[in-house]
Amino acid sequence: MHDVVLIPGDGIGPEITSAMRRVVEATGVGINWNVQEAGAGVIDEYGTPLPDHVLDAVRATGVAIKGPITTPVGTGFRSVNVALRRAFDLYACVRPCVSQPGDGSRYENVDLVIVRENTEDLYAGIEYDRGSEGASRLAEVIAASGQGPVREDAAISIKPISEAGSRRIVTYAFEYARANGRKKVTAVHKANIMKATDGLFLRVAREVAAGYPDIEFNDKIVDATCMGLVMNPDDFDVLVLPNLYGDIVSDLCAGLVGGLGMAPGANIGEQGAIFEATHGSAPDIAGKDIANPTAEILSAAMMLDHLGEHEAAGRIRAAVRATLAAGEKVTGDVRRALTGTAEGCVGTQAFADAVIEHL
Ligand code: NAI
Repeated sequence: MHDVVLIPGDGIGPEITSAMRRVVEATGVGINWNVQEAGAGVIDEYGTPLPDHVLDAVRATGVAIKGPITTPVGTGFRSVNVALRRAFDLYACVRPCVSQPGDGSRYENVDLVIVRENTEDLYAGIEYDRGSEGASRLAEVIAASGQGPVREDAAISIKPISEAGSRRIVTYAFEYARANGRKKVTAVHKANIMKATDGLFLRVAREVAAGYPDIEFNDKIVDATCMGLVMNPDDFDVLVLPNLYGDIVSDLCAGLVGGLGMAPGANIGEQGAIFEATHGSAPDIAGKDIANPTAEILSAAMMLDHLGEHEAAGRIRAAVRATLAAGEKVTGDVRRALTGTAEGCVGTQAFADAVIEHL
């Protein structure tokens, strides 16, 4: 029996996590689900979107799987998703993007893995609002160092990239490549412009790469990477990126394999692992039983691998593949990509039923 915290989240989260849970239970693997709520819906009761008892539960099991949680744009509370990753120092975000027959994408045989740094960069949340004391003091420091002027009405976000943070994520990428039979690691950056931060990331990546002569290494500027991924995804194997580029390139790569409904993910560190799809809470389709639960189901397969349940993980992947390949019971996003219309598609739960039939 494995103890796992399940955070359903909001938006499409409850629908896709219930579909995922049914598929996992159908494998016969014993999971003791500890369901915990987080997000806007718990603020009235607990005064915070991420109550301590949720953190305690994850601390106790070390393993969680979650649905997406909505983050207000521009104002309001900071991302619960980012806070969870930071609370447990889950520094490696691993997102495999693998083509499946019938996934509705324009590509075949895409097989790459994003390894995104999860704790630093512009995502660290160090920000100063327009007109704040912090922004004006920073502007003074910047001007005094001869790098200004920063306009008086500017808001400022800080991009910390450390040597230690870069070393551990690049090392993780190489270790992942070795353990998973991958041949190449590409470090993605913008070191031509951000010479201090991305320059440090690249320098450390080159140093780490020297310790892995069995794995090919190259580096690529992030804009050229985006074009390369769209033109020739076969050129890529494992990509290691700082946090923000990793966020953006993850969605691009999801688009290579059928869209956000297809792309699973894991946040991993020394203290534990939290599994979640790449996509967000998709408020535009929430509560309608039309979301594609594939990404969440494949995230559960990654979790089962993490728990040592490799046979069940493999069965889930094969069942998802078979369901998509059969093409009869697929959700609207996939059907639309394949035929131009969602007509004849099935709902979230019916798709999960089809996966369960193929287990
Ligand atoms: P999103 O990923 O929720 O949606 C983007 C588009 O993809 C939408 O058209 C949506 O309908 C579609 N989509 C996403 N998942 C799908 C699925 N499983 N099946 C079919 N279609 C799917 O991105 P958006 O709209 O920018 O963000 C919505 C909210 O989610 C925001 O509050 C954002 O902060 C949050 N978010 C949360 C994440 C997390 O919990 N880890 C990650 C990314 C965003």
